[in-house]
Amino acid sequence: MATALIGTPVNRVDGRKKVTGTAQYAAEFVLGEMCHAVLVGSSIAGGKIRSINTKAAEHAPGVLLVLTHVNTGRFGDMPDDMMAGGTTAEKRQPLADDRILHTGQYVAMIVAERMEQARYAASLLAIEYEAGHFAVALDDAQETKFKPDNFMGEPLTFERGDLNAGFKAADVKLDETYVTPSEHSCALEPHATVASWSDGTLTVYNSTQWVMGDRTVLAAAFSLPPEKVRVLCPFTGGMFGSKGATGAHVMLAALAAQRLGRPVKIVLSRPQVLTDVGHRSETVQRFEIGAKHDGAITAMRHHVTSHTALDDDFTEAATISSRILYKVDNYAAEQELIRLNVVRPSWMRAPGEAPGQYALESALDELAVKLGIDPVDLRRRNHATVNPQTGTPFSSKHLLDCYTRGAERFGWSERNPKPGSMRDGDRLIGWGMATATYPGYLMGADVKVRLEPSTSGARAIVSTAGSDVGTGMYTMLAMTVADALGLPLERVGAELGDSSLTQCAVAGGSNLTASTAPAANDASAQIKRELLKIAAETADGFTGAENHAEEFVFQNGRVAHRSDLTRSIAYEDLLTAASRDSLEAQAQTQPIFGHNDKFSFQSFGAHFVEVRVRPEIGKVQVSRIVSVFDCGRILNHKAARSQFLGGIVFGIGAALLEELTYDREHGQPANADLAEYLVPVHADVPDIDVSWIDEPDFNFNSMGCRGVGEIGITGVAAAIANAVYHATGIRVRDLPITPDKLVRT
Ligand code: MOS
Repeated sequence: MATALIGTPVNRVDGRKKVTGTAQYAAEFVLGEMCHAVLVGSSIAGGKIRSINTKAAEHAPGVLLVLTHVNTGRFGDMPDDMMAGGTTAEKRQPLADDRILHTGQYVAMIVAERMEQARYAASLLAIEYEAGHFAVALDDAQETKFKPDNFMGEPLTFERGDLNAGFKAADVKLDETYVTPSEHSCALEPHATVASWSDGTLTVYNSTQWVMGDRTVLAAAFSLPPEKVRVLCPFTGGMFGSKGATGAHVMLAALAAQRLGRPVKIVLSRPQVLTDVGHRSETVQRFEIGAKHDGAITAMRHHVTSHTALDDDFTEAATISSRILYKVDNYAAEQELIRLNVVRPSWMRAPGEAPGQYALESALDELAVKLGIDPVDLRRRNHATVNPQTGTPFSSKHLLDCYTRGAERFGWSERNPKPGSMRDGDRLIGWGMATATYPGYLMGADVKVRLEPSTSGARAIVSTAGSDVGTGMYTMLAMTVADALGLPLERVGAELGDSSLTQCAVAGGSNLTASTAPAANDASAQIKRELLKIAAETADGFTGAENHAEEFVFQNGRVAHRSDLTRSIAYEDLLTAASRDSLEAQAQTQPIFGHNDKFSFQSFGAHFVEVRVRPEIGKVQVSRIVSVFDCGRILNHKAARSQFLGGIVFGIGAALLEELTYDREHGQPANADLAEYLVPVHADVPDIDVSWIDEPDFNFNSMGCRGVGEIGITGVAAAIANAVYHATGIRVRDLPITPDKLVRT
């Protein structure tokens, strides 16, 4: 296969649409006679609705429909587990009954001619509540503690080896607890849905990372065959896990559109985004680690408590990395959940891994300090060549190279390990590092490639249902097919984000490129075989070509003899000769969830961070980051770099800024807007030096690529916390590292 584009930085094929504003996002679809919905949330955190007087709202100008638990009725039984091919954001049906499980839980939806009218009518609802018991802090609900079963088939509580023997053999022991807060994905584009019905078919424009998942849920909700539901999402303004499950607003928009016989649009407000569509759970993580003087870890116990919702059991699987990252024979994981009056927590970029690695990599740093061993050395000494959990080798692992290259690019050898020893004027300088890791997932995709004539010669269209959630999928698929078929990029189009296209997995778990690119490549190969067959049958000098494929090349839209490139024929001429309107082929990839019988599939990386701290005010500025990744072959260098950078910036947010808080007394979110829930801005982000070990992993898929979307965030918060310790001598074990935690009194 020629690789003109793969392995190079390629500009986005949809870039022009985005910068000119012609890329359409869910809320921008304007359908005829469209009306507007507003959701009203509960003002109490627990209890029930005594009554809702809707009369004034119903008679307000422009109001078409008021839905409450009294008149909504039941939806069909919807799946609430992503393994079912789609999942609702909460187990509980929208507007199901009078119970209140959390603040913000939808208690009414108002539909009006105009959004302003719906919002005004919402203010006229007279709702009487009967306040009941609630808890929004882990300490207030300890009695609800329980052990969840598993996470994607992986056990969450288990022991391997002999933990007691391991601790007995240890020369030093560490026992520390690390805390991470609730966080939110904060996608720039709020969740939005436009739903309409026509002849018994439901069409939904939705801001989603899984059109097929939404279709599954909506078909179940409205008892329709899947082909009667079409979900479209051509563009998404970010998601990071928060748009993987189908939210209540989607079902309610579809229901209102059905009742009214008109299209209905709903856009969540920012507070609704922050409190009603998932978030990362708070975690309390205790690490007990035993080690020999030489650094060899003899035992590790990782205990995690995180929260879930009253009716759900979503688990922040924070032990998923600690079980595999280092060579630890004696290991135990334990995860417990506590029920809080909040919306069901959900996936957020590197769910489990991100908070889990903050704790693990902080603990490793503390261990390095205890042992007087350089933190990079300590990690090298505990390097795992086989997956210690499964016993199978990693398909392709270059973590040691990441340490070496990262340390070199950063200048790590200049580090004086003594805390507070490095200064620039009145600024304390700290250098810290951490390992990054994320599993290799393939969730499966069917991809279609069609070759058809156009005015500029034959062109190809590559299509699958999966959404481009901003990662660059349009470009990725177009460049894969352009290379595979030997076409210029301008002659390849990509169609995505439409459930009427072929089956495709969720754009989550960093799997979509790894799932779709190999299938696009395989489908292209089928088309090349077909072209060769046609050439053999119809073109002069190509007799028997299909049996000697190696003697031909496909480039610039032509099949040519390898030995004499001037003897060639254009694809469009082959289509004409065969009297074909188009050639079409379809290929698929099968799911792999991190491992198969032979291999463990895992990506790795290393972050090296410099912080500058002003000790008198506790202000931390991240001044330098060097990150090196090992994610198999990197297909589009530009798009991948953007993903790594985005993940790292997320990590800066987790380390220093982000925290979704609730008022414990009243159960209200205290900072549900972007003025109070702080995310990094440009001034918080230093120059970031990103590079990668470009070793293909052909054990994983035929393109040799693992995902790049989530690994960037993993380890960053720990690397920053470790750098802060190195600068100040203060070990912050609860995120975010806000100034108050650094000012000594
Ligand atoms: Mo990602 S948190 O798997 O959408």
